[in-house]
Amino acid sequence: MRTVAVIGAGQMGSGIAQVVAQAGLRVLLSDVQLDLAEKAKAKIAKGLARLVEKEKIAAADAESALSLIVPVGDYAAMVEADLIIEAATEREDIKHRIFEAAGKVLRADAIMASNTSSIPITRMAVSSPDPARFIGVHFFNPVPVMKLVEVIPGLATSAATVDAVKGFVARLGKEAVQSGDEPGFIVNRILVPMLNEACFVLGSGTASVADIDKGCRLGLNHPMGPLELADFIGLDTCLEIMRVIHGSTGDSKYRPAPLLAKYVEAGWLGRKSGRGFYDYSGEVPVPTR
Ligand code: CAA
Repeated sequence: MRTVAVIGAGQMGSGIAQVVAQAGLRVLLSDVQLDLAEKAKAKIAKGLARLVEKEKIAAADAESALSLIVPVGDYAAMVEADLIIEAATEREDIKHRIFEAAGKVLRADAIMASNTSSIPITRMAVSSPDPARFIGVHFFNPVPVMKLVEVIPGLATSAATVDAVKGFVARLGKEAVQSGDEPGFIVNRILVPMLNEACFVLGSGTASVADIDKGCRLGLNHPMGPLELADFIGLDTCLEIMRVIHGSTGDSKYRPAPLLAKYVEAGWLGRKSGRGFYDYSGEVPVPTR
């Protein structure tokens, strides 16, 4: 494998682009507009510069990783990719459109993957040119820090595709776990209902934002409390994941917390919008309830 295309230059796509380039592979990074991919590259440059400052990596390695990242403005360039990873918004209609468009340039020996956090792979594979070469590769945020990648074959995914993707994950220095194609896979199936439950606890007035988070940090040794983590992931993403799990299983225990849905309706999406369960406008995040 020499070249990887990453579609979507948001927080996940940028993180994936960074670790792929640090592993010595060329990255074609795209978003809906070229300037968004260029801005993402500039942000990755800052992240790499911080790693150099902290003496985690050599300046020459940062420079060489950065030189491997090529922002691209359309799908045509992706004909060079051995692997195309979609890391766009967690909306199924958008993802289907991307697979159809990128599928037109996907080489006959190349693999198409989705970094979806919950949408069934088998369902998305129908929009790709060859479901045998379609697979889920799910990274965790922040990508440069988190060791895990979930590998999710769909019904038609070939064994060769699974092996190639596991080899790719190992090359990034990350650990793979394989999950069946069930909504939320392994980790989000367990995590996101817990975050949703924290929203129910908050909505019912049982405890404050600060105490819910402090309770889980100190009582469970979690690095972040559930509301802080939901803000970090993005409340819209958390809500979408709950909707997918709820819709796919039909089980009412997965219904999204009304407070979570309300925050998303208000545009309070967490860190990325400056407000969620915390207000991020000042030096330190301040709980809002
Ligand atoms: N990019 C790169 N490195 C980062 C980073 C980022 N965005 N954020 C933090 N780091 C690095 C820091 O540089 C630091 O590195 P060193 O120890 O080498 O100096 C290290 O991570 C620790 O960071 P901090 O000291 O600043 O802060 P912290 O100790 O509070 O850790 C954290 C921050 C790593 C994010 C930690 O709070 C954590 O692990 N939180 C939980 C994250 C989590 O659960 N992620 C999964 C979310 S679910 C998901 O992603 C799946 C999905 O589909 C929704």
